[in-house]
Amino acid sequence: MISYDFSSRVAVVTGAGGGMGLVLAQMLHKSGASVLMIDVKEKPGDVSEDDRCIYAQGDLTDAKFVSAATDAAFKKFGRIDYLANVAGVLWFGKDVSLLDIDLGVWNQVMDINLKSMVHTIRAAVPHMRKSGGGAMVHFSTIQCLRGDSKPQDAYVAGKAGVVAMSKSIAMQLAADRIRSNVIYPGVTKTPMQARWDTEEKVRQMADYVPLHRVGSPDDMANAAMFLLSDAASYITGADLVVDGGLMLKY
Ligand SMILES: NC(=O)c1ccc[n+]([C@@H]2O[C@H](COP(=O)([O-])OP(=O)(O)OC[C@H]3O[C@@H](n4cnc5c(N)ncnc54)[C@H](O)[C@@H]3O)[C@@H](O)[C@H]2O)c1
Repeated sequence: MISYDFSSRVAVVTGAGGGMGLVLAQMLHKSGASVLMIDVKEKPGDVSEDDRCIYAQGDLTDAKFVSAATDAAFKKFGRIDYLANVAGVLWFGKDVSLLDIDLGVWNQVMDINLKSMVHTIRAAVPHMRKSGGGAMVHFSTIQCLRGDSKPQDAYVAGKAGVVAMSKSIAMQLAADRIRSNVIYPGVTKTPMQARWDTEEKVRQMADYVPLHRVGSPDDMANAAMFLLSDAASYITGADLVVDGGLMLKY
């Protein structure tokens, strides 16, 4: 296990109420960082706010909420160094082919999965500049690298947008020493994949992955820790596939 020293650093993590975002926020906190955890869900039972942790419950589509929460973290902790955009939704059944999708659903998915990234970056960057630089990591999906006979077109289009915006902002902010990178998770056992509700379903999915297991939130959080850390200080505008080799099959 690699250990990082994030003491005296401050991170904003979205989607921190469950799945990958929760694990990443906990890893950062354990490594010494102060953390602003944002999620629309209630604070999980095993999270307690302390002098290095704020939990802000609210909707990332609300720009005013995002900027108020980020400003409050800056006021309490004195700086913002990192932004992890982990939150996302995948609406099985409602998010379908672009030929059929309800455009209200399309807009909602885009607002949550893509436009929220505009809100969080706008809120964090002025504070990162004052702090002398920073790093961001944004969560996309391997799904946006391929076609699918059972499509979720709003999800994949939004997640492709995440990649494009990360590269664009990486270029715009390089002079400010602010880095921006993307993780493409593969199939990962989190609340988002509640449909794998039996050992058998998880095993079937695992057998399809070249490394013969589904990903864990720790796998994704470990990749994010690296990209945020100074060990990745020369990496910006990059994408990292973390999928147990699944994309090798496509
Ligand atoms: N689990 C997978 O197999 C998988 C695969 C590829 C990519 N991803 C991506 O990884 C990221 C993390 O996914 P996860 O599996 O941990 O999912 P998850 O559902 O467990 O966690 C996502 C979190 O985002 C929060 N969220 C959703 N909408 C929000 C909003 N409007 N405002 C604030 N918070 C909101 C949810 O409440 C939830 O806690 C997502 O962006 C997802 O698209 C997941």
